[in-house]
Amino acid sequence: MHPLSVIREQLRPLFEEYVDDPAPYLEMVRPAQDSKFGDFQANFAMPLAKQLGKNPRDLATEFVDKIKLDDVCESMEVAGPGFINFKFKSDWLTAQLGTMQADERLSVPVAESPRTIIVDYSAPNVAKPMHVGHLRSTVIGNTICRIVNFLGHKVYGDNHLGDWGTQFGMIIYGYKNFLNRESFEQAPVDELARLYKLVNQLSEFHDLNRKIPELQAKIESLSAQLTEQEEKADPKDKQARKALGKIKNDIATLKQDLLSAEDKVSAVTASPELLAQANGYPDIARLAREETAKLHKGDEENLALWKQFLPLCIAAIDEVYGRLGVQFDLVLGESYFQPFLQEVVDDLKQKGMAQQSQGAICVFHDQNEAPFIVQKTDGAFTYATTDLATIRYRVEELKADSILYVVDARQSEHFKLLFETAAKWGYDEIDLRHISFGTVLGDDKRPFKTRSGDTVGLESLIEESIQRARQIVNEGDDAKPSPELDETMRQRVAEMVGVGAIKYADLRHNRESDYVFNWTKMLATNGDTATYIQYAYARICGIFREVDADREALREGDGAVVFTHDAERALGLQLLRFAETIESVVNDYRPNILTAWLFETANAFTTFYGNCHVKNEPDAAIKKSRLILCDLTARVIDQGLALMGIQTSDKM
Ligand code: ARG
Repeated sequence: MHPLSVIREQLRPLFEEYVDDPAPYLEMVRPAQDSKFGDFQANFAMPLAKQLGKNPRDLATEFVDKIKLDDVCESMEVAGPGFINFKFKSDWLTAQLGTMQADERLSVPVAESPRTIIVDYSAPNVAKPMHVGHLRSTVIGNTICRIVNFLGHKVYGDNHLGDWGTQFGMIIYGYKNFLNRESFEQAPVDELARLYKLVNQLSEFHDLNRKIPELQAKIESLSAQLTEQEEKADPKDKQARKALGKIKNDIATLKQDLLSAEDKVSAVTASPELLAQANGYPDIARLAREETAKLHKGDEENLALWKQFLPLCIAAIDEVYGRLGVQFDLVLGESYFQPFLQEVVDDLKQKGMAQQSQGAICVFHDQNEAPFIVQKTDGAFTYATTDLATIRYRVEELKADSILYVVDARQSEHFKLLFETAAKWGYDEIDLRHISFGTVLGDDKRPFKTRSGDTVGLESLIEESIQRARQIVNEGDDAKPSPELDETMRQRVAEMVGVGAIKYADLRHNRESDYVFNWTKMLATNGDTATYIQYAYARICGIFREVDADREALREGDGAVVFTHDAERALGLQLLRFAETIESVVNDYRPNILTAWLFETANAFTTFYGNCHVKNEPDAAIKKSRLILCDLTARVIDQGLALMGIQTSDKM
C-alpha cells in the first residue's frame, strides 16, 4: 500500500462515529506543502469540527489519539488551528522502497475488480485534414487508455470517426464540379482536401455575406445601449458596472466574429477566380447538403464515391496517428451505426420516450432544456441517434461498464442530454462520462490559427516541433566535450523530444482550461516539459554508463536503501508516491496530476544529485543505496512518460 493510503485506511473507520461518507474528508489528507511539517498533512478537522460544533484542535487530537500508526509513523502532530501532520519512519519508507525496487509494476497495484472501459476519443470528421483541434482528444484519450490498461482494466480505445457527415456531401459536390483530375490521380488526399476547402469556402462566402450586416447591426445597437447605460449608471454600483462589463465583452466578441467574417469574405473577393466561382455557384451550400442527403438515402453514385474516398481519408489520418504513436482497438465510425438508427427511433417511440414536435422526433427532458432530436423533419437521423445506437452496441456487444467520451467542452450539452436519454432508455447501470476539455489558443488568446486564419494542420505542427527539437538536440550535443550522437540518433531523439513536447504541453494543463500554445515554453530544457524529464532520464542512464553497475542486480530487493541526507529521503518518498499518483489520475481522469508528479520527481532527483555523491561515494553501502534511488527514478520516469505515449532515450 502506498504511504497516503496507509494513512487513509487508518482514518477511514475512525470517521464512522462522525459522518456517513468519509470520502470527502479522506481527500483532505494530502502531501505536505513543506517538508518541515512532515510528509502528509490532513486538514479535515476544521470543516468537520464546524459541522459538529466542536473545537477543531480538540477534534484533531481525538483523531490522533485513536490512530494506530506507531510502527509506520515517526510522529503525528496537531498543529495550528487543527492540522494533523504525519511523518513516516525512515526505515518504513526504505522497506517500501525495497518492495518497489523488486516490483516490475513499481508498486502500482492491479485493479481488484477489472472493468470494461470504452474510451471514445480522437473521432475527427474525416474528409478534412486533422488540425490542432484534434490534438487534445487524441492525446488525452490515448493517455487515459494507457493508464486504465496499465491498471488491468479491459480497455477499448474506440475512434468514433465522423465518416458519414455533411463534409462528404461537400467533397462529393466538389468532385462533381471542381475536380482537377490530374491532381487527384497524383495526390488524391490533397485534392480531396482542396475540394473540401473550396466548397466550404464558397458556401461560407454566401452565408457570411448575409451575416455581416446582421453582425454590424448588432454591434451598433449594443454600442448605443452601452453609451446610454454608461450615462445613467452610478459608478459606485457594482451590479451596474458588471452589466456594462458584460455588454463590452459581448461587443468585443461580436467584433472578433465580424473581423473573421470579413477576412473570409475578402479572401474570396481578392481572388478573381474564387469570386467568379462564388458567383457561379450561389446555391452551393444547399446543393452540397443535397449530395449528403442523397448519400444517406443510398444513392448509388454517391455511395460509390464515398466508398472510394473513405479509405483515402483514413490513410491520411493514420499517418498522423503513426507519428503520434497512437493506436486504436476499434475504429467504428458513425457510418457503422447507420443500419441501426431506425430501430433506435422506433424503440424510443414504442417506450413512449420520443414524441413528434414540429415534424421532428424528439426526446424531452427538463422543460428548460432543448429537446434531444433523434430524427429531423426531413427524416434524417442525427449525431444524437448515432450516439444512442453506439451506446447500445457498446453495452450489448462489448459489455461495457463505463464509456468515457473525450470530447471538447462545447459538446457538453449534447452529452448531458445523451446520458439522460440513455438512462431513461434503460442504460442506467453504465457509467457514462464526458471527459471534457478546453481549447488550444494562439498568442492572441483566440483559437490557435495560422497567420492566414486557417486552422493549424496537425501534420505540419508535429513536423515543426520535430524540426525545432532537432535544433535543441544539435546544440545540446555539440556543447558536450565530445558529442555522443550520430546523425540517425540525433533524428530519433529529435522525434522523441518533438512529439513528447506537444503531448506533454497538452496534458500538463488542467484539461478543462484553455491553454496558449507556446513553442518556447513547451520545448524548454528547464521547466515543466517533457524535454526536461527526458533529460533527467538520460542523465541517470549516463551515470550508470560511468559507474558500470548492474541495474538488474540492484532490483533484487534486499532493501538496501538507506537515508543519510534529507534529499535522499525526499526523493524516496516522492518515488513511493507513484502508485498514489496513478490512483488519483483515474479518479477524475486528469493526466495533469501525472505530469505534475513527474516534474516534482525530476526536481527531487536534481536536488538529490546536487547534494549526494553517487559515482564518487566511498562508502559501498551508501553508494549502492544511491544507485538504487537512481535506478528507481529512471524507471518511474520511463513508466510515467510511457503512460502518456512519450518515449525516453538513454542518450540525448
Ligand atoms: N466527430 C465528432 C466531432 O468532431 C466527435 C465525436 C465524439 N464522439 C461521440 N461519440 N460523439 O465533433
